[in-house]
Amino acid sequence: MVLNAVKFPAMILFKTITSLQKELEKLRSPNLKIGFVPTMGALHAGHLSLIKESKKNFDVTVCSIFINPTQFNDKKDFEKYPVTIENDIYLLETNKTDILFLPSVDEIYKDGLKQLQHFNLGYLENILEGKYRPGHFQGVCNVIYRLLNFIQPNTIFLGRKDYQQYLVLKTMMRQFFPGVNILAVDIQREESGLAMSSRNMRLSEDARIKGACIYQSLQFTQQNISAVSFDKLKAQATETLLQNGFDKIDYIEICDAETLLSLKSIEKNKKLIVLVAAFIEGVRLIDNVLIN
Ligand code: PAJ
Repeated sequence: MVLNAVKFPAMILFKTITSLQKELEKLRSPNLKIGFVPTMGALHAGHLSLIKESKKNFDVTVCSIFINPTQFNDKKDFEKYPVTIENDIYLLETNKTDILFLPSVDEIYKDGLKQLQHFNLGYLENILEGKYRPGHFQGVCNVIYRLLNFIQPNTIFLGRKDYQQYLVLKTMMRQFFPGVNILAVDIQREESGLAMSSRNMRLSEDARIKGACIYQSLQFTQQNISAVSFDKLKAQATETLLQNGFDKIDYIEICDAETLLSLKSIEKNKKLIVLVAAFIEGVRLIDNVLIN
């Protein structure tokens, strides 16, 4: 239950760190709980589930929309990233978000895009997403490190859709923000099973329908995990995706959900996760399922 819910007449939008911090300092008190939902906009029901989760237990919910240039290893992906700011503001307001932080690139990266901090993320930085998107997680850590310093929330809300990002941020925050909690929220899907993603906006109707076979392959793998070898399951999933219009598969992996290290077979007491990254119509989609 929210104890100190601050009554905002409407969502307040801040574009500068100074104005955002001024407002937060006015509100801050020992009992006031601030929930923070970082996003890159083009909002959908997946993002809104994080907002709703924060609204449930937190007095103030801050959402940021910032398309972070330093986490895009592919320039074209950055240029094509969907921008739907009017609709985003409407969605945040109707979901009763208290504060929207909408900074410019110069505001976040005051010393320029070359002056980045380096985070020690160990092997997590170079496997799976990190292998195919070099530098991506350093960019993610740079922006979240800055946002956490500006906002100083009690809890940050992250989606399990970007499972490796969640583990990477956990690693970074263990070192720099041990007092901030991380709350992971389940993947929201379209009725077809396709994981909601801002990048889905770039898909044709046909690709949206075909794209749902990622989830079907993940479910097939989940259902057959103890009956079929991991190699065969991965080969089967690869075939299904390629037959259903996917152009390229970066990876299909079955891993230890705690460490993301690849597994060859079931291991006792280990929670598993199956992760996929694949391209359809040149759009890169990622998805995963957890297996207990
Ligand atoms: P973005 O892709 O906008 O996602 C913002 C948050 O929404 C992330 O925590 C992501 O995991 C979550 N999310 C996205 N799709 C979801 C879905 N279908 N169900 C549940 N949660 C979902 O992830 C980023 O932005 C950026 O890397 C960011 C963390 C903001 C740093 O720039």
